[in-house]
Parts: sequence; C-alpha cells; structure tokens
Amino acid sequence: MELFKVYPLNPVNIVKAQGSTLWDQTGKEYLDLYGGHAVISIGHTHPHYVAKITEQLHNIGFYSNSIEIPIQTQLAKQLGEVSGKADFNLFLCNSGAEANENALKLASFHTGRKKIISFSKAFHGRTSLAVAATDNPSIVAPVNETDNVVFLPFNDEEALTNAFQSFGDEIAAVIIEGIQGVGGIREASIPFLKLIRSLCDTYNSVFIADSVQCGYGRTGIFYSHDYSGVEADIYSMAKGMGNGFPIGAISISPKFKASFGLLGTTFGGNHLACVAAVAVLDVIQEENLLENAKRIGDYLISELKQFNQVLEVRGRGLMIGIELPEELAHVKKDLLSKHAIFTGEAKPNVIRILPALNINQEIADRFLTAFEQTLKA
Ligand SMILES: Cc1ncc(COP(=O)(O)O)c(C=O)c1O
Repeated sequence: MELFKVYPLNPVNIVKAQGSTLWDQTGKEYLDLYGGHAVISIGHTHPHYVAKITEQLHNIGFYSNSIEIPIQTQLAKQLGEVSGKADFNLFLCNSGAEANENALKLASFHTGRKKIISFSKAFHGRTSLAVAATDNPSIVAPVNETDNVVFLPFNDEEALTNAFQSFGDEIAAVIIEGIQGVGGIREASIPFLKLIRSLCDTYNSVFIADSVQCGYGRTGIFYSHDYSGVEADIYSMAKGMGNGFPIGAISISPKFKASFGLLGTTFGGNHLACVAAVAVLDVIQEENLLENAKRIGDYLISELKQFNQVLEVRGRGLMIGIELPEELAHVKKDLLSKHAIFTGEAKPNVIRILPALNINQEIADRFLTAFEQTLKA
C-alpha cells in the first residue's frame, strides 16, 4: 500500500527535535519557526511534557468516557484559570475541525436555527459543517455544500448589520477567527468583534470564536478575540493545546445547558491527551509564555517593518504574516534550502511565522539575519 498523496512534501525527514531545533536523519540542524503549523506551543520534547506523558503511559493510556477521568476535570479547571474563563464549561474532542463542528452544532441545538454567518477567506476545518463554513470551494465536496452558510466580507460592519436586519432571527451562529491564519494573517477588527457581540445579543445568536490557530496564548493573550474587550459564547481550540498530541476542545459559556448525549466522541478527553494538555498549561504558566509571546512577537514585528521590500507585516505576538511582492516569491523556499529555517505560508505570497511560544531573542535574531540575507539574494 502507498500513501494517498494529498500533501505536497518538502524532501526532509526530521527525526529529532528539541525546543525550536530540528535534526534530519543526516544530523543536519534546522530552525523551526513554523511550529509544525502552529502546533508546537511549548517547544519540541519539553522535558516536563515528556515526563508527564511517559508517566501516564505507564499507568493508563486510554479508557472510554463512560468512567470518571479526573485529569479531564483538572484540565478544565486549569484551562478556565489560564484563559480567564473559570465559569465556562469544557467539551473535549480531537482536532480543530471537530471543535468547530461541535461549536456549530451546539449553537444550532441551542437556538433551534440553521443559518451560520462566516467570512471571506475563513478557514474552519475539513469536516462537513466546518468545511461548509470555510471560504474555499475547492475543498468543499458537493455533499457539504449548503445554503445554511452565508459568507460576508471580513470586517465589513455594514454587510453584517444588513444580514442581521434581513434574517437575524434565522441566524444560529457567527463564526470568526480572531486572526485569519490560512487567509493570510488578517486580524478581525475590534469594532467588528464588538458588533458581532452586540448583534448576537440582540438576535439571540451564538458568537463562536475560532481560536484553533490564533488562540492558546499565541498572540500574548489566551484567546486573541479577547483583545476586543468582549467575550464570545464558544471558543474552539486545538493546535497548541497538546503540543503535538492530538486534542481539541470547545470552551462553552455557562448560558448553554448540557444534556446527556448532546455531544460525544470516543477518543476525546482520553487520559494521554489530557495529561499532554495539562503539561502544556503547566509550562505556559511556569514559564510565562504569554508574556514571552508578546515580547518576542512585538520585537519581530517591529524589526520586520524596517525592511522596505516587505509590503506589509500583520499579526500579533507570535502569529506573524510577512507579505512580500511577487518577485520575492523565492524567499520562503530559500529560508529552508539556504538557511535551514522552516516557516509557513499563505497564498499568494505571505510568509507565516508560527513558532513555539518560548522562542528567545537569539532565535528571533537568527531569523531576522537569514531573512535579510534572503531578501538580498
Ligand atoms: C482557524 C482554524 N480552524 C480550524 C482548523 C482545523 O483544524 P484541524 O486541522 O485540527 O482540524 C484550522 C487548521 O489549520 C485552523 O487554522
């Protein structure tokens, strides 16, 4: 059997990793400013994380949600504290798409309505409703096409107001990324997030903050939407949550009532995933990683703005997009091939920086030096 080839691959085989350093099978060293696609939040193979997962594996790796799993409760408590949502409730699942799928489903159950508002360039995942709310027709299968999702222009207050005025009583939810990732590191404006909150309040719709990529401390606060000063009803999360161990979740406002069978999953909330997530939160707290993400992110953003070849630098904290002109389309490739630095991208020509939240100034400077050299090449 061969692999079903759905990903274009870099010809690199990474066999070892520590912090933000990676090594291939020949011993060649790389710098990871991509964080395995915004997943590595506390650095690769962090000793606390490795110790906690190893210890758990020796005890029990998995049992079903039909029994008490105290580490789930511990995770909920700790996440409530770190995220500033102690009164919210937690539902655990396995990925970002599944988190959004459950958020949308819960909104529909709660309101009894069918319409979802999503925005241009949004990415919410590849499962049925999550992909229907994703603005990329090439990944939406015919079976997933639905008139229940209405796309509006991102950050367009007038379009949003008009939509609520014409069919607000049919709208179950508005789903929005605090900073669009796949869409090119584009930030939802503070007035726009405030407007979503007030329209959802007026029309009894649900405000879903997709925090899968922009959340979990990456921007310097736990959920980037919260920069707006208003609170969402449901926050979805995944990537940084398990530092590579698959886990996703939704944090749910106390206004939603749980009932047995409403949501469910076999693997969600298993012992190993929860211990990984608790270890991540331990490190985020002990090493002040939110503060570090903000400090190093501010530094990188202000330094990147000095390059006059760069069209625009967008983002917050350690979620940074560098928009380059077409003639510099080689930069991302050169960073990997000539400087052994992994970065991400968004089409057509945005470099995405999504490193671990514990990178230091020396790593930031190594990147800036390599970036400068690549621009000159
Ligand atoms: C904002 C956002 N939402 C949802 C997802 C889907 O997450 P997953 O790939 O874990 O299903 C992603 C993945 O890139 C994402 O960036």
